[in-house]
Amino acid sequence: MAFAQDIINWYHQHKRELPWRSTTNPYVIWLSEIILQQTRVEQGLPYFNRFLAKYPTIKDFAQANEDELLRLWQGLGYYSRARNMHKAARMIVEKHQGIFPTAYDTLIQLKGIGAYTAAAIASFSANEAKAVVDGNVFRVLARYFGIAEPINSPSGKKLFGQLADELLDQQDPATYNQAIMEFGALQCKPKSPDCGRCPIHLGCYARKENKVDFLPVKMKA
Ligand code: ADE
Repeated sequence: MAFAQDIINWYHQHKRELPWRSTTNPYVIWLSEIILQQTRVEQGLPYFNRFLAKYPTIKDFAQANEDELLRLWQGLGYYSRARNMHKAARMIVEKHQGIFPTAYDTLIQLKGIGAYTAAAIASFSANEAKAVVDGNVFRVLARYFGIAEPINSPSGKKLFGQLADELLDQQDPATYNQAIMEFGALQCKPKSPDCGRCPIHLGCYARKENKVDFLPVKMKA
């Protein structure tokens, strides 16, 4: 599909070199994705490096002292992320012989791993064809396809999820998933995106209809 191919082409030209992008190790990918859940890349990067240096494998992580783990987490906030990681790591040692799973259906059962994180790990580590839908993806799809359904409503989540699955590049889901998230982070930015330089602006609903600042729609909590 042209949409996916255009985004992948853009990605090859503009992507940032990030350490978790040059590995298929599910443990390393998991570590990066949980850290980045509520944290910007620049802030998360030094934490990622420190965690990996201290706990090079899932077994090291599972055996970590929880106080030490929480100390290393200091500054990232949402400490339940770290506690859930510790539980998931111990579950992997106990139930999966210390081998980090890569299948979506197995990952989703682990503590702290939801649909987004399971899709990210399964696609990046094993090229499983699961679409990631994070804030960046919501924004790109809402603008390009002109979807005004609230991204945080049940019907909106379903609609965006279905669209994301249809758009997913079945040949290379890993690259496509990285590409659309990076495209949202760097090109289709929340505020004042530079649409003049956007490779897909000709097909973009929001650009044509001057709705860039009004999409995506989010319901007040
Ligand atoms: N934010 C969440 N996941 C990411 C990834 N894989 N690359 C860059 N930023 C991200």
